[in-house]
Amino acid sequence: MKSGAEPRGPIFLGLNIDHCATLREARYSADKREHGEMIEPDPVAFALAAERAGADGITVHPREDTRHIRRGDVRRLRKALQVPLNMEMACTDDMIRFALEIRPAAVCVVPERREEVTTEGGLDAHGHRDRVAACVTEMNRAGIATSLFIEPEPRQIDAAAEVGAPVIELHTGAFANAWYNSSKRAEELSKLVAAAERAFSLGLIINLGHGINYTNIRDVRRVPYVHEMNIGHSIISRALFDGVSDAVQTMKRLMNPGL
Ligand code: PXP
Repeated sequence: MKSGAEPRGPIFLGLNIDHCATLREARYSADKREHGEMIEPDPVAFALAAERAGADGITVHPREDTRHIRRGDVRRLRKALQVPLNMEMACTDDMIRFALEIRPAAVCVVPERREEVTTEGGLDAHGHRDRVAACVTEMNRAGIATSLFIEPEPRQIDAAAEVGAPVIELHTGAFANAWYNSSKRAEELSKLVAAAERAFSLGLIINLGHGINYTNIRDVRRVPYVHEMNIGHSIISRALFDGVSDAVQTMKRLMNPGL
């Protein structure tokens, strides 16, 4: 099998901290400040605790409607973090400008507005090839590793390779949602496995994300050639009971048993 992207040792954990900001916004959305002694929880403090616990990267999605992460959070993270910052972004001029201001280590292009997608989940890189290609070119030129968040479908994987994206993040949401239906779950897992094999043969770096948790990770890790998993909701939830450190370290062990 031809490939430019060799599988490399342990799978990295990118911790998505959006839902820490969701909790802040539940109380402080009207307050223009992002943090302060009363304004909790601070997603940047959460990210730093996760970094100390061994998270390999931090992921955020500043959305147009700023429903959780605000742009100021991203600016503070960029200054404070030692580990790479991965910014999820819609494929819009405004977000491209913001990415060029922030210069995160990586961006992941995601669908945001309903009219940009054909499926409920991933970016339609196949259908919006020109716009996605322009975004990827701009990010590549700026030296920002660009990934496309796509469904595990052959035409989306091929489109990602054709527009020059070095990385894809396969959407694991359909698999996660099928957990309680064993035949559908097996079918969704095989789609992810086949997608990873196809992407690997095209030389793409493969990440996974959405809906991965402490239970389904046992199956998710059967997907081959994975470089990184981006996990948010489950780790933030576990941290409420066990603390950030335990939540991060337990997930890393489950992602990489025996390492
Ligand atoms: N990857 C991407 C592209 C996402 O948009 C998200 C958040 O929905 C995640 C990973 C993390 O998903 P979750 O919070 O379900 O772990």
